[in-house]
Amino acid sequence: MADGMINLTIDGAPVSVPPGTLVIEAAKQAGVLVPHYCYHPGLPVAGVCRMCLVEIEKAPKLQIACATTVTEGMVVKTQTAPSKSARQSVLELLLINHPLDCPICDQAGECELQDFVFQEGRDGTRYGEYAKRFNPVEDFGPDVLYVPNRCILCTRCVRFMEDVAKEPVLNVSERGDRAFIGIHPEARLDHPWAGNVVDLCPVGSLLSKDFLHKARAWELDKTASICTGCSQGCNITLDTRDEVVVRVRPRPNLEVNRYFICDHGRMHYKWMNRGDRIEAPLIRRDGELKATDWDEALDRVAGILRGASGTAVALVSPGASSEALALAKRLLSGFSWTGAFQVVMGEEAPLPGVPNLALRAERAPNAKGAENLGYSRDYARALEAAKTAAVVLVLDDPDCAVEASGALIYLGSVLGADAPCRRADVILPIANVAEEEGTFTNCDGRDQRYYQAKPAPGMAQPAAWVLGELTAALGLAELTR
Ligand code: SF4
Ligand code: SF4
Ligand code: FES
Repeated sequence: MADGMINLTIDGAPVSVPPGTLVIEAAKQAGVLVPHYCYHPGLPVAGVCRMCLVEIEKAPKLQIACATTVTEGMVVKTQTAPSKSARQSVLELLLINHPLDCPICDQAGECELQDFVFQEGRDGTRYGEYAKRFNPVEDFGPDVLYVPNRCILCTRCVRFMEDVAKEPVLNVSERGDRAFIGIHPEARLDHPWAGNVVDLCPVGSLLSKDFLHKARAWELDKTASICTGCSQGCNITLDTRDEVVVRVRPRPNLEVNRYFICDHGRMHYKWMNRGDRIEAPLIRRDGELKATDWDEALDRVAGILRGASGTAVALVSPGASSEALALAKRLLSGFSWTGAFQVVMGEEAPLPGVPNLALRAERAPNAKGAENLGYSRDYARALEAAKTAAVVLVLDDPDCAVEASGALIYLGSVLGADAPCRRADVILPIANVAEEEGTFTNCDGRDQRYYQAKPAPGMAQPAAWVLGELTAALGLAELTR
């Protein structure tokens, strides 16, 4: 044993892993995906599906890779005739009752039953004459439907609710081929993190009502992003179809959110598709806002800033990227400067089975980033200062109750009919989080990148681009923070 590591071979490939590693995890390091259903790295091991049977030299019979820990010199073979035949039998038994309704199943294209049957299942069935079991679809909770006919009884959902959410409302009811997932008669699947059962379900048995029939899996483009629902900074994937965000799913990050996201974050995407966007720069001409091009709009802002002196106030959103926040501060560096942000607060909702993971009370992704850059939480004071400032810059805060006697510049993506920012001298259209690339700092001080998932509408540009152009025009591009 070298350096406390365990050495073994998997399908002929040597690997070294820490003691206590499961064979199924060691296999991943050898580039081998052992087929599995009940195993999930974020849940306690159950060993109930028998899909991960492999041959281990010197063991008297096949072993389940998800519940066997590695030992020094172990030789694991996943592709021998006995192990493949055993897994084929498991698949054949699962398909006796599975409805084969892939053409209308939301999971088709990302279904582990489809994948493993395609990979190593039998060509046909030997149980064709048996009628399939039928149970009606059940409404489990605000966003979860249960389709029992598709359930393969892996118990991932039961273990998540029991061991991770610590709200044991699901169970395996009945026995044998009559078994199904039951819900406590007086309970709903309405825990703030309950939606994770949909992601955990390896087949189309637990479905999101929100995503139901919205898209086929192969129509989706996937982009790495960061949730904007609170300051936890959960890593997510934005699924887009035809440049519309249609689904948010967790992206594993063991340091931040492990494999999970909360339901608030899961649903916090519809605003990214808003149609009532500001699509062109607007400048005030003869008392009215008129659409113009970027050159004229940027010239107008540069002229305002060159001609003003004294105090400036930046009222910014804690949902803006750190890049935009840093550039906004730099743009006003020639003034006596005040910058502030306001955060919407909500109820904190921890996920009890995972330390330091919660829907945070602060419902903004980058309050920490704004604070690190010198923006204050004293928004009321900044609003007061804005009344007499020479220049007020509002960044991505459409509900800002600003009153300004000096010049008012608004960078935003939307503008309500009665919004105070309608009185701005210049309005610059910016991209939202799904339309740009940037950095957020989460509540623990972790800087995390997010990426562009869809194009910005019309002439809108990332705020960091707009502010970068302005700082360059004013000769401030080389300033350090
Ligand atoms: S509903 Fe899905 S996750 Fe739950 S036991 Fe059935 S197949 Fe597994
Ligand atoms: S905990 Fe916060 S960051 Fe994570 S998914 Fe929920 S809202 Fe998003
Ligand atoms: S994945 Fe190993 S028994 Fe289910």
